[in-house]
Amino acid sequence: SITVVAIDGPSASGKGSVAQRVAKHLGYGYLDSGALYRIVAHAAQQQNVSWQDAEALAALARGLHIEFHGEDVLVNGQDVGDAIRSEAMGKGASEVAVHGPLRAALLDVQHDFRQAPGLVADGRDMATVVFPDAAIKIFLTAAVEIRAERRYKQLLAKGAAADLSTILEDLKARDARDQQRAAAPLVQAEDAVLLDTSAIDLEQSVAQAIEIVAN
Ligand code: CDP
Repeated sequence: SITVVAIDGPSASGKGSVAQRVAKHLGYGYLDSGALYRIVAHAAQQQNVSWQDAEALAALARGLHIEFHGEDVLVNGQDVGDAIRSEAMGKGASEVAVHGPLRAALLDVQHDFRQAPGLVADGRDMATVVFPDAAIKIFLTAAVEIRAERRYKQLLAKGAAADLSTILEDLKARDARDQQRAAAPLVQAEDAVLLDTSAIDLEQSVAQAIEIVAN
């Protein structure tokens, strides 16, 4: 049987790093579902499709051939790994992700990642919509002020310009959009274990996630 570990939570909670390390530790595959929404936002921009046009975005998504090779992301043969990591595509992802028809179009792509021996799936609706039968469900979060500080430090470390209060406002807006949308709103699944990383670092978060999986 194939074990699915669903890890959901808000922006900048450290989900991605934790999920990737847990996957490596378990020898499982890894699904970065946020990357799919970033890919769609990026492809839409390239093809002059509006981020507001639900049906056009769904049609566009169905025509994309997506391959992940480590950090490289190939979309119809083109490497968009760096392009989709921009703040602009983060915002675009959050805007296109409100559309139900697009979310439905991306279901098959996500289900295809479910391969033996197991999968760690990272996103907003892994436990609630995409893999509702996941054996392990973790809701990973941290206080919004802490998440803003982490993102701020990340950007400074990259040598990018960053303003803490702007990041905080942006995260609050993104949280609101994720939680208040009608299609697959961000919510802790009833059967998910809460992992609050406000007071612990990445290593401790990974250790606690692995402990949740083991129990
Ligand atoms: O965490 P962050 O917002 O920086 O980026 P991400 O995980 O790459 O996700 C980008 C955006 O896609 C999020 O802000 C969500 O609005 C959306 N998303 C979603 O709706 N459902 C998912 N399963 C994953 C991401």
